[in-house]
Amino acid sequence: MSDKTPISFVTGDAELGAELYSVLATDFDVTVESDAVKALDGLENRRPLALIVDENIKPIGGMKFLERAGGRLGKQMMPSLLLISKQQETFVQKTAYLGEAAYMIKPIQWNLLRTKISEAVNSGVEKSWDQLPPVQRSVLKETVGIFRDCFGSIQHGAPIPVAKIEESCRPLVQAVTDNQVTGLLNAVQDHDDYTYVHSLRVAIYLSLLGHSIGIKGDDLLILSSGGLMHDLGKCCIPHSILNKPGRLTDDEFVIMKTHVNHTKDIFDTTNNISESIQVIALQHHEKVNGTGYPNGLMGGKLNELARMATIVDIYSALTDRRVYKPPMPAEKAIAILESMTDEVDQNLLGHLKSYLLEASGLPE
Ligand SMILES: [Fe+2]
Ligand SMILES: [Fe+2]
Repeated sequence: MSDKTPISFVTGDAELGAELYSVLATDFDVTVESDAVKALDGLENRRPLALIVDENIKPIGGMKFLERAGGRLGKQMMPSLLLISKQQETFVQKTAYLGEAAYMIKPIQWNLLRTKISEAVNSGVEKSWDQLPPVQRSVLKETVGIFRDCFGSIQHGAPIPVAKIEESCRPLVQAVTDNQVTGLLNAVQDHDDYTYVHSLRVAIYLSLLGHSIGIKGDDLLILSSGGLMHDLGKCCIPHSILNKPGRLTDDEFVIMKTHVNHTKDIFDTTNNISESIQVIALQHHEKVNGTGYPNGLMGGKLNELARMATIVDIYSALTDRRVYKPPMPAEKAIAILESMTDEVDQNLLGHLKSYLLEASGLPE
């Protein structure tokens, strides 16, 4: 099975089908279908997370197709997007039935389509969170909401809402202390905002590690908030580097590394960010032997929080699901960290290891 998110495209235009496939197949597991009847059957079996329908689909046309798909799938209908010509726009706007489908006018602007598919996938994934137990549901809804607020603030040069971020992490701390994180980790994995998914996973694992060494109450809240905010500066990294489906070149890596400095700039515009959150965010790429970045801090200069953040960030990156790699099993990721004897704090790693591999029987 593919590790990419499944999406389906229904079109009678073979050329457009091939073009869409070539543009999107790097990021998604794309199926292109040219027969409306087969496509309807396929939807029930495959359950793509987003559906793109060309108005040009024989014999019924895209709008009718969506209507029938909605009728068949009912509440299971996935978010969809209708591709139309400029001439069809007035008609489409007047049509009561479009369900939740948005539309887009051809010729396709590929970047915009990529964004809309991402929004469609995320709206479906976020809706599915309604079925989760209350604590897990509120962790995901609160954190995804605050994450968007943060990025909005950063774009407008406004201070980030630190107090709200900390509040949004309260259910997360509860989920960690109630041992409800497996459901959370599963529920977030299909979300298409990788920085959010990674940041939430770091927040979860950082809180788990904190919990396992006896950190409690508001201190645990700081840990999870620091985890959620640790990569905020990535919003300043070009999309092509941030979401590159593969290894970065040396030059790209230099740019990627600047996300820590961007985080510092963001923090500089905001008051009342606790020292601990700053340590987590600004030192999570430092290593005990001084080979990390941005400052190459060594041993004694790295307090426990920084050491925890480094371990958890590496562990999360290894076990994250990316379009170009499946998640690494927990045992293997821990073994890699254990081989980094000079770089990461092995005592703290031991706590994470016992929690993940022995105490909870987690992941993936
Ligand atoms: Fe980072
Ligand atoms: Fe990170």
